Amino acid sequence: MESMWSLSSGPMPPVDPSEGASHQISVLGAGHVGLVTAVGFTHHGMRVRVGEAGPERLALLQSGGVPFHEPGLAPLVTEGIEAGLLTFHASNAEATEGASTVFLAVPTPAGTNGSADLSAVESAIRSIAPVSTDDTAVVVKSSVPPGSWRRIQAWMDDAGCAGSLVINPEFLQEGMALAGVLEPVRVVIGSLDPAAADLVASLHAPLETTILQTDPASAELTKYAANAYLAMRVTFANTIANIADVVGADMTDVVRGIGLDPRIGTDFLRPGPGYGGSCFPKDLPALIAVAGEHGLDPVLLAAVVEANEQQVHRVIGKLADGLGSLKGRRIALLGLAYKADTDDTSGSPAIKLAAALVEAGAEVRAYDPVAAVALEGVEQVASISKALEGADLLLIATEWPEFAGIDPAAVSVAMRGNVVVDARNMMDKQKALAAGLDYRGMGR
Ligand code: UGA
Repeated sequence: MESMWSLSSGPMPPVDPSEGASHQISVLGAGHVGLVTAVGFTHHGMRVRVGEAGPERLALLQSGGVPFHEPGLAPLVTEGIEAGLLTFHASNAEATEGASTVFLAVPTPAGTNGSADLSAVESAIRSIAPVSTDDTAVVVKSSVPPGSWRRIQAWMDDAGCAGSLVINPEFLQEGMALAGVLEPVRVVIGSLDPAAADLVASLHAPLETTILQTDPASAELTKYAANAYLAMRVTFANTIANIADVVGADMTDVVRGIGLDPRIGTDFLRPGPGYGGSCFPKDLPALIAVAGEHGLDPVLLAAVVEANEQQVHRVIGKLADGLGSLKGRRIALLGLAYKADTDDTSGSPAIKLAAALVEAGAEVRAYDPVAAVALEGVEQVASISKALEGADLLLIATEWPEFAGIDPAAVSVAMRGNVVVDARNMMDKQKALAAGLDYRGMGR
């Protein structure tokens, strides 16, 4: 290997279809990352066998279904199945036998003290040990905190899992996940074995992207650094929006004003009720835990986590300001998902808001175009208008495009009260005020 760090960018040589077909790929775990990764390859003519341990999910996939909401995914799953390139298997060993490359896309949930629980990675390693060979690239797609590769290598050694370890983090966003695999802005491949890294790089040959080859720890840290930075930007936007509220500034203009500076840009500066999902809320504590294990005190990251926790209370404060007591008041809650275009409610600020409102004695009627949740005290209804009927206050908690089209005049007629807390800045403020609504946005 010339250097541990190498970079290739732009289109790689076009993939020879016969060569693509000869790559036998296995993906373990048909969650968001695994399934999207699999169709990314089958879409380019490669053969992928997916191992999935959950019997219900497996049966659904085998019958051509998709277990979660992700725009554009279902047609690509159908395409892969119909082309005979995509199959689903209960046994990881069956999915992996004869594969040159095995992608581990199993969950790494929060464990104790914020650290990530990698037990599913260990089990996956053990399950493929009998069928791995010296030439197998064992590729970790799951988010594993910086430094984990040493533990994973030790599990491989202990289980007799031959082959080379490669860390290849996923950067896809739920709701726009296909872009993450079909048009990735970069692919990071970390391995001590240049041949294994090159093999994984070659699978990305059909893509016009930048491939960054690194050592394993750098690949792991790149993933956590990216998420920590993005979470910090969102938290920064929320902090400035809160200041905009108290000084009478308009956060939309402030974001435009700072975003024109090319060093800053406007992405990931939309204020809201705080970040959620299954990634940022889990990855920041895991990064803090790793730093702590090495005697560091990453106060910046801890502050991001704390400020994000406070943000939901900040939104509840806006409701209380608008209504006085929340007890017995009827709240129309629009949105349950942690963000638009997903049915995922993990770590969703909308759910935290709903729970806090129920706790305060409010009556909550919620509507979400896709997400559903069983939450005591929350009635889930089938339309925006049902949620609004007779409500004292409207709370917009998720930025579904459908909510941008809401007519403030119609809201004013449907509701009993007139307070709107727009935690995603979806509504036209001037129209809302003109319709007689007591509009409260985020830093507007
Ligand atoms: C995030 C990263 O963006 C992906 O690159 C990464 O691959 C993924 O985590 C992961 O680790 O698997 P995701 O959780 O799908 O992706 O969602 P984002 O679109 O990043 O949004 C995260 C949270 O920030 C959401 O709650 C969203 O509402 C919030 N957000 C985002 C804002 O409040 N304002 C913004 O301007 C942007």
